[in-house]
Amino acid sequence: MTRVKFIDITEGAVKLKVPDPKLYKLDSKAPVFYNPAMTLNRDLSVLLLKAVGNVESAVDLLAATGVRGLRIKKEAGVERVYINDASSTAFALMKQNAKLNKLKVIISNLRAHELLAGRHKRKDKKFGYVDIDPFGTPVPFLDAGVKAIVENRGGIIAVTATDTSALCGTYPDACLRKYGAKPLYNYLMNEAGLRILIKKVQEVGAQYDIALTPLFAHTTRHYMRCYLRAERGADKADKILQQIGCFQGAGPMWLGKLWDEQLVEKMFRLTFKMKHISAETKSLLHTILLESKIPIVGFYDLAAMHLKQVPRLQSVIENLWSTGFKAARTHFSRTGIKTDATEKEFEKIIKKFY
Ligand SMILES: C[S@@+](CC[C@H](N)C(=O)[O-])C[C@H]1O[C@@H](n2cnc3c(N)ncnc32)[C@H](O)[C@@H]1O
Repeated sequence: MTRVKFIDITEGAVKLKVPDPKLYKLDSKAPVFYNPAMTLNRDLSVLLLKAVGNVESAVDLLAATGVRGLRIKKEAGVERVYINDASSTAFALMKQNAKLNKLKVIISNLRAHELLAGRHKRKDKKFGYVDIDPFGTPVPFLDAGVKAIVENRGGIIAVTATDTSALCGTYPDACLRKYGAKPLYNYLMNEAGLRILIKKVQEVGAQYDIALTPLFAHTTRHYMRCYLRAERGADKADKILQQIGCFQGAGPMWLGKLWDEQLVEKMFRLTFKMKHISAETKSLLHTILLESKIPIVGFYDLAAMHLKQVPRLQSVIENLWSTGFKAARTHFSRTGIKTDATEKEFEKIIKKFY
């Protein structure tokens, strides 16, 4: 710990010490992992918990610098926040960072499974919010994670996957092994990958009669992330499983809604009140707010249509509106459009531009 060089930074409303990025690589070999590009990911956790409003306890099982938990405590006001990491260097740094912000959080240095098995010896045996943000695949943490959610009072599990090469079809065998599904390797791969990840978490829940409904989900080039709300009940879990199926020869995957529209609306409104939320997060939420109103699996991608000249995305969207269809940009692709128009109807609109 003493030999690691730290710098002082601010993220959201918290101050942090993080390893000097000039000296250490941003990977699993860093003394403690901190990725500034994940600020958006953490902004969304804060906004979601603030919008949900009644979460009393939260745990970041793999907390590294502790940044997510500290922000959840300070910005979302969750009463009891647990931050845990198996690394002793991370543990020492989390303590420093909590002190720096004068925040009372419960800090532990356990393997995630030990914490979930009750080794922290604290009041909470289960949590209103469980965050799983590992290096690579979240699969090894799902079973214990799902069982640790307070499922009777709508607990939430948040899961990040950075093994996008498996989920997005570069390594289909890995996807089949880890997620029990066949991925897509075309312009729809990000959406399909996210739906496969959701399906995997839901199947783990269903084993214990826990129904897991997506509240919010998003992807970037580097990772996928989903937030699911738990409810106990075999019938409810069965209903979730009924919405799992195949799409374009890939899957099985979740075919239901990815977003709770009302929650997205609340989160977006909060971005105007919470001055620490980044412009990037606000912009992503705006796109998701519009696409959440078109709960359709898949989208059309102008770049994948081999057109001689690609029309302006907004012009195509407006044309779809004036023809009576729903249409919006999608955060899955810069050139993608979500719409309720069929393929034929969409092609007819595109032909108007030639
Ligand atoms: C990707 S980082 C977490 C980043 C953090 N959530 C954030 O938002 O900055 C993954 C962390 O998991 C920790 N870790 C790996 N395996 C673990 C385990 N079995 N139990 C607890 N922590 C573990 C690593 O030490 C590392 O700090």
